[in-house]
Amino acid sequence: MNTTHSPQTIIGCIRIAFYRVLRSLTVYATVLRSLPPRARILDCACGIGIHSLALARHGYDVRGTDASAGMIAEARRRAALEGLEVEFAKCSWADLPKKFTERFDLVFVTEMRLAIAGHPKRPSPHFAGCGRC
Ligand SMILES: C[S@@+](CC[C@H](N)C(=O)[O-])C[C@H]1O[C@@H](n2cnc3c(N)ncnc32)[C@H](O)[C@@H]1O
Repeated sequence: MNTTHSPQTIIGCIRIAFYRVLRSLTVYATVLRSLPPRARILDCACGIGIHSLALARHGYDVRGTDASAGMIAEARRRAALEGLEVEFAKCSWADLPKKFTERFDLVFVTEMRLAIAGHPKRPSPHFAGCGRC
C-alpha cells in the first residue's frame, strides 16, 4: 500500500504522540513517587524488558513476565549485559496467580490494551491477588 499524508496530518500525528508520551510520563512519575524505595514491581507482558530494566536501574525489586519465550530470552540477555538483577519468567497473565504467591506493590502493564488487562479501577481477575492495594 502506498499512502501519502499531508504535512498537516503528519504534524498532527506527531503532536498527539508527543502529548501521549508526556501524559504517560506524568502518570508514571506520580505512581512511582508513591512507592517505597525498594518496592516490589511486577512488569506483566514485559516484552524485551525495557520498563523492567528501567525500573531496576532506579533500585526497584522487579519481576518481568511475558507469554513469549523469545521476549523473555531477550530481556534476560539485556539484563545480563547491564548486570541488573531482574527475574524474568515466561508466563501468560492467565497463569500469574499460579506462578506468584507473593504480593507486589505495583503491577505494571504497558502497551497492552486495557480491554484485555481490565479497567484500572476494575483490574482483570488474572491480576487478583498480585497487588497489595
Ligand atoms: C506491545 S508488547 C509490550 C511490551 C512491553 N510492555 C513494553 O511496553 O515495551 C506486548 C507484549 O505482550 C505479550 N503478551 C501478549 N499476550 C500475552 C499474555 N496473554 N500474557 C502475557 N504476555 C502477553 C507479548 O508477548 C508482547 O511481548
